[in-house]
Order: sequence, then C-alpha cells, then structure tokens
Amino acid sequence: MEAMKIDLLIHSASQVCVVPGHDGPQRGGRLGDLGIIENGAVAVADGRILETGPSADLRARYTAETTIDAHGRCLTPGFVDPHTHLPWAGDRAHEFEMRLGGATYMEIMAAGGGIMSTVYQTRAASLEQLVVQNLPRLARMLAHGTTSAEAKTGYGLEKAAELKQLDAIWQLNQRQPIELAATFLPAHAVPEEWSGRTDDYVQHIITELLPAGADWMRRRQTTLFCDVFCEAGVFDVAQTRRIFTRAAELGCRLKVHADEFEGLGGTKLAVELGAVSADHLVKTPDADIAALGQGNTVAVGLPGTPFGLGHSEYTPAKAILAAGGALALATDLNPGTTWCESMQMVMALACRYMGLTQAQALAAATLNSAHAIGRGDEIGSLEPGKQADILILDVADYRQLGYRYGTNLVKMVIKQGSVVSKQ
Ligand code: NIG
Ligand code: FE
Repeated sequence: MEAMKIDLLIHSASQVCVVPGHDGPQRGGRLGDLGIIENGAVAVADGRILETGPSADLRARYTAETTIDAHGRCLTPGFVDPHTHLPWAGDRAHEFEMRLGGATYMEIMAAGGGIMSTVYQTRAASLEQLVVQNLPRLARMLAHGTTSAEAKTGYGLEKAAELKQLDAIWQLNQRQPIELAATFLPAHAVPEEWSGRTDDYVQHIITELLPAGADWMRRRQTTLFCDVFCEAGVFDVAQTRRIFTRAAELGCRLKVHADEFEGLGGTKLAVELGAVSADHLVKTPDADIAALGQGNTVAVGLPGTPFGLGHSEYTPAKAILAAGGALALATDLNPGTTWCESMQMVMALACRYMGLTQAQALAAATLNSAHAIGRGDEIGSLEPGKQADILILDVADYRQLGYRYGTNLVKMVIKQGSVVSKQ
C-alpha cells in the first residue's frame, strides 16, 4: 500500500500525551487521564490532528511534507491559559515593594493604588503602545508552551479605554501565534470617578458599557465573555447578578472572579447562570463547591495568585474534585498580583499547593482549560480533528512537568501544524 501524503509527521516520541476528552472536560476522579502512547507519533493534515499512534505504524503509512524526529522526547497538547489580564500598560514593582513592607493588596487598592494605577497607565497608552507592550509578554507565554489564551479588558473602566483594550486584544490576536479569547471586564473595580457610587457604576455598565462591548462583538463577528470581580469591597453578588443578566441578554458568555479573598456566593451564582468558568476560588464555601459538582461551570485555579501575594491558602482542588467538579489551571497573568507568563510554573505550584499529581495538572492545563474558554471541542488534546497545537518537551517523561520549575522544559511549539517557537 502506498503511503499517504500529509503535511506533518512527528515521530519517535517517548510519550504522546493525548489527554482524551471524549465528550467534555475530565471531571472529578477522571482528572489526569493522559491516554499515553509510548514510542508514539502524531500525523497532521490541514493544521489538524489526523491520527496518533505507534511511531512504527504511522511512519509506515504516512509520508509528510515536514517530518520531525522527536528523538525520544515527550509530546503534549499546547497549554491553554484561560485567565490572563492581558493587555495592560506599565508595571507595579513599587507596590510589590510596599507589600513586602507589610501593606496588603486590598489596602493598596483602597488607597487608590492597585488596579487603578494600572488603569491610569492603560488609559494613557495609545492602542499601538498597548499592542507593542504586550507582544513580548505573549512571546514569552508562547516560548513556555501556551498556544491559546484568554485576555481581558478591565484596565480601562470607561467606554473608550475598555474598547481600546478590546481592539488591542483583536490586534494581538492577528500579530502573533497565540489565539486569544476576549473577555469584557468593566466590572474589575469601581473607578475613582465613581468612588462611593458602586450601584451607579453598575447601572452605567448595564446601560452604556455592556451595549458598547456587545456592539464591538457584533462588528468583529466574534464571541465575547463577560467577567465580574465579585468580591467584598468590589461588586457584591446582587450587583454581579444584574451585570450578568444584562450581559447574557446581549449574547455574552459568562466568567467570574470569585472567592479570591472572601467567599460571597459568586461561584454558586456562576453555576446557576451557566457560566463557562468560575475563577480564583480560594475561599469557596462548601455549598459552592457542591454546586460545581452539579453544574457545567469549570473551576479555574490560579495558584500563581496566592503565591504572588505571599498567601498560604490555595484553591481547594481535592474538595472540588471530590464533589465531581471540572478543574482547570490558569496564570492570572497581571501586573498586580501575579506577573507569571508560564503555565509550567502554574503546574508546579498546583502540584505543591493544590495537591495535584503531574498528570492531573497537565490535564487541567490543557483539556480542561480549553473547556474553561468554551473551546474544548477544538483545542486542548491531541485527538483526531482537533487543531494541531503540540508541544515537544525537552524531556522524555511528562512527570518532569510540575516536578521541575523555574526553567523552560518546552523545546518546540507547533500551532495549527506549523512550528512557531524553538529553543
Ligand atoms: O485577578 N482580582 C482582580 N484582578 C486581578 C488583579 C488585578 C490587578 O491587581 O491589577 C486578579 O488577581
Ligand atoms: Fe484575575
């Protein structure tokens, strides 16, 4: 039989970690099924996975335009980072110094620093400056294995600046290989102009900002998530519900920042409203954990955030899994609490502080995180038909992920069948 001609064949991998999804995220006790093929290969055509299988078998049946010998290295799906605060302008290294001196994150925020200081820097930047400042951040993410990510507004907090952030996300999507899912977050903080008038700002979000975001979504013919920072001293559950109800009417899908510092019930609300994900989840009440086990909302743990803040409490991953919940991981990449571009670092933290095994961390950072941005059918695993977003690690065993940290274990990044990063 003549060999079939394809675009790309990667062969002689020690392990091909398929991370099978079947019909959804890996929930509860199923988390960590990597579907490993030893001495494996991946066949790619038209930017998609055609087949995975034993190397000898695929080499006999396919000839490829491009052939890559993995030389006994491990292959995984590209990492999906479902929660970042890209794009922003500037940095807050001086606030980190203040925190080292004893000030808390919420104290700095209440004193007009924190999110507001990045808001001023982001408002002052032109669209092009915003794009140019964020391209190197995305390049570092890519080099560390992230092939798809979410990106949020929330450093504009007024119509023009929120739309400028959406336009920056749009341009960043065109100008580098990582695919970005856009999220609208005008409810990230109450801006100084509305200080003491949270309900009025919520009304402004509902009547002015959300329709402007929805209009942007229609003009761009894309999808848009809506997120709210549901937290004590920011937006309460009733305000979050009002914003989400309007956002859903306007065609947005929902995500929430909940339980980062206090458990208010934002996670339960997210499940009730069918949100795609509920993120942070450190102080999550038991009833909200139980709700995650019943609904389809993916719980996103962001262990870089408590680590970045020097806190000792992390997402209760074991309880969420025991309840049957779907758990994903993300960086929360932002200039205030956690400037970390690496999903490998996040996996290392999740193994130590959330009690995950390396296999659970890898499935949470690929298949389940793809579901946390509503793209589990397209990305996140090496199953036939999915986009060929593939990492060749510089190690033979996936268990080096999470175990080793602080250096980059990714050798090559392939996005939709093309090599986009090599180290
Ligand atoms: O997810 N919690 C709110 N937002 C960010 C921090 C943003 C900032 O401090 O600039 C977070 O940790
Ligand atoms: Fe966040």
